[in-house]
Amino acid sequence: MSDALEWIETPAFVVRDAVVRRNIAAFQSYCDRQGLALRPHVKTHKLVRYAKAQIEAGARGITCQKIGEAEVMADGSIDDILITYNILGPEKLTRLRALSDRVPRLSVVADNDTVVDGLSQVFADADRPLTVLVECDTGGRRCGVQTPAEALALARRIAASAGIRLGGLMTYPAAGGASDAAAFLSQARDMLLRDGLDCSVVTSGGTPDMWTAQSGGVLTEYRAGTYIYNDRSLVQRGTCGWDDCAGHVLATVVSTPTPGRAVIDAGSKALSSDLLGLTDYGHVLGRPDIRITGLSEEHGVLAVDPARPLNVGERVRIVPNHVCVVSNLFDRIWIEHADGMLEEAAVDARGRVT
Ligand SMILES: Cc1ncc(COP(=O)(O)O)c(C=O)c1O
Repeated sequence: MSDALEWIETPAFVVRDAVVRRNIAAFQSYCDRQGLALRPHVKTHKLVRYAKAQIEAGARGITCQKIGEAEVMADGSIDDILITYNILGPEKLTRLRALSDRVPRLSVVADNDTVVDGLSQVFADADRPLTVLVECDTGGRRCGVQTPAEALALARRIAASAGIRLGGLMTYPAAGGASDAAAFLSQARDMLLRDGLDCSVVTSGGTPDMWTAQSGGVLTEYRAGTYIYNDRSLVQRGTCGWDDCAGHVLATVVSTPTPGRAVIDAGSKALSSDLLGLTDYGHVLGRPDIRITGLSEEHGVLAVDPARPLNVGERVRIVPNHVCVVSNLFDRIWIEHADGMLEEAAVDARGRVT
């Protein structure tokens, strides 16, 4: 552990900048070779500086899930944003309209008539139409039209509505569901094209399947988010290794009540309680023999081999199960630069849930 990490207060979220830069470059280079546009999802880092780094490396633009996140990114002069969420209600629609005046290339998704009609009403008198993609449920079982025929019907409605224009198709498939997604999207795209509709963007995403994303098929664009930091869930899937994990929770051992138990000052408020189908709550770097077996809000309970005990005051670095949630738990993070220098930074879009 670098000396500087010995004095910062814990629990802390530490991001290794060199690993971030390497992760950005590696997947950008993969997308370039595939001829796929990359549109990183910024929910993982929520930082303007890393959104800019992703665009400087060659990304087409960014993805946000919430208008609030997009507003923060627009404040940082990001000019190409896709919001992958159904936007509803007068307050949000008013904010979206205002955002469109600041973001030259703004697009959103819709999976139902109510959302399409709301967008059309608010943008009817806009100088520039808002681009709307049809969200398709290709197996992720979240939002999305259920069949290619439904995608066509909604696409027709978008194309016929004032103030908005059809951009194409969007999906967020289940991990491992790339081929189901491709089958759905190819059929839907062909139906749109036969109907004379625009389908210039076909966008899918997800870090678990990013290394097999292909442009040869139907996709024109890929949205990866977690790849910038990576996490324990992705190491378990074989998507990356521990060295590719840039986001660590730094914690201090505060108690060793029994020879086999140590307690750290990072609980669910620092690590999140997300299991993502795993057992335990994170990976202690350099100590694969240790298990994080339980969390309460401010305590993490570690099962330790009594022959290799941890001492009170000792620090551990933990790769969380799901790093995106951790970014949203800390107001400020520590960026660990390649030379060991630590820089404290505010998480720009933290807590932007609307
Ligand atoms: C709509 C959408 N696109 C892309 C992503 C990025 O997925 P990942 O973080 O697995 O790369 C997400 C993640 O939640 C998402 O919801």
